[in-house]
Amino acid sequence: MSDIFSTRRRSAPGRFADVDGMVARLKPSYPVYCLKPAKLTSAARRFVEGFPGEVLYAVKCNPERTVIRTLYEAGISGFDVASLVEVALVADLYEDAELHFHHPVKSRAAIANAYRVYGVDRFAVDHADEVLKIHAETRGKPATMMVRLTTDSSRSTYDLSAKFGATLTDATAMMRQAHDLGHGVGLYFHVGSQCPDPVAYDEALETVRQAMAAVPDIPVTAIDVGGGFPGQYDMGEMPPLQDYFAAVRRGLATLPQQPGRRILCEPGRALVADGLSLVVQVHLRKGDRLYINDGIYGSLSETVTGHLRFPARAIRPVGQPLAGERLPFTIFGPTCDSTDVLPEPLLLPADIREGDWIEIDTIGAYSNALATRFNGFLPEAVVEIGDAPVRVTGQVAIDTAGTARQRTLS
Ligand SMILES: Cc1ncc(COP(=O)(O)O)c(C=O)c1O
Repeated sequence: MSDIFSTRRRSAPGRFADVDGMVARLKPSYPVYCLKPAKLTSAARRFVEGFPGEVLYAVKCNPERTVIRTLYEAGISGFDVASLVEVALVADLYEDAELHFHHPVKSRAAIANAYRVYGVDRFAVDHADEVLKIHAETRGKPATMMVRLTTDSSRSTYDLSAKFGATLTDATAMMRQAHDLGHGVGLYFHVGSQCPDPVAYDEALETVRQAMAAVPDIPVTAIDVGGGFPGQYDMGEMPPLQDYFAAVRRGLATLPQQPGRRILCEPGRALVADGLSLVVQVHLRKGDRLYINDGIYGSLSETVTGHLRFPARAIRPVGQPLAGERLPFTIFGPTCDSTDVLPEPLLLPADIREGDWIEIDTIGAYSNALATRFNGFLPEAVVEIGDAPVRVTGQVAIDTAGTARQRTLS
């Protein structure tokens, strides 16, 4: 499997120094993810240098291979994986990647294969029966059971404690159970995705402290503060990452210390949101309505589920430049469904027309990862922007002149 074009093909689309250059060259009639390695790298460095512990990447947020590669090259070699497919994806790329299977509910087959084939021995649990399942499928060999605690996620855009997580009482019983079965014990939580308040981490670490205090004889070998660190979108500024790291430091300082204990985080959104934009094309204009080639069943579902707003700008690389004041346009996606419409209008130049492009920024998190094939539309073309060698991946796509521009290789 390869998602990289050969050197000859690579020279065909050229090196895309910037997004406008890519549009001028490819004139894509299909949505194109513009991956910006420099931005991904600096997000990774901010975490690696600022977080008081080790950084895992939550692969579910954007499983694109080039994203994983860029983060790995920037110093992140641990990964939170949610399925056997994600285990295989990362293990296939990097033999030395450390995988943490942090989905609290796994099939027996997934546990067994992750353990026996890929050597994964760190698992999330939030129920006593899951502990027994892992114990059985790893044939009693010592593993690390990361007991997931429920936390208050009410401030976050997505509550990740409504479905998973154990009460303090159940968590301490599971810590005892896992310990008595001969496994290592860790504690773990997720404050909810797109968390606007660093205090959520102080509070969650207070729950960790209480769990440790309830079973003081059980060594806690790892504490994972999860994800939840926010992306910066077009909807009010979030506190800087440093404030979140400071809250984690404060919370950790209240815990009984233990030599060798690992401190982990597993961000998705804050690592990748800023690292990709999406270029879409206007296929029809009806007054103040624009019909584009991506929508809520593709890359833009978080405009509905999370009420997220992304910055957008219009691009017209040839002919008369775009003009006019910026007006609100209702944006319809490509499927036949009337609900395939962005909940908020985009502000775009008054004379935008069919054939123009729109760059929608900060789209790296939960975009391609959530896209469906509804009506046959699946956004999957990816280009790299910047000085790194050009890689183009994605579907067979026909440009406006009817020429096949690229083919699926991945
Ligand atoms: C177990 C787990 N870890 C990490 C993440 C990443 O969270 P975020 O993207 O908010 O950083 C998620 C998101 O769903 C998750 O479920």
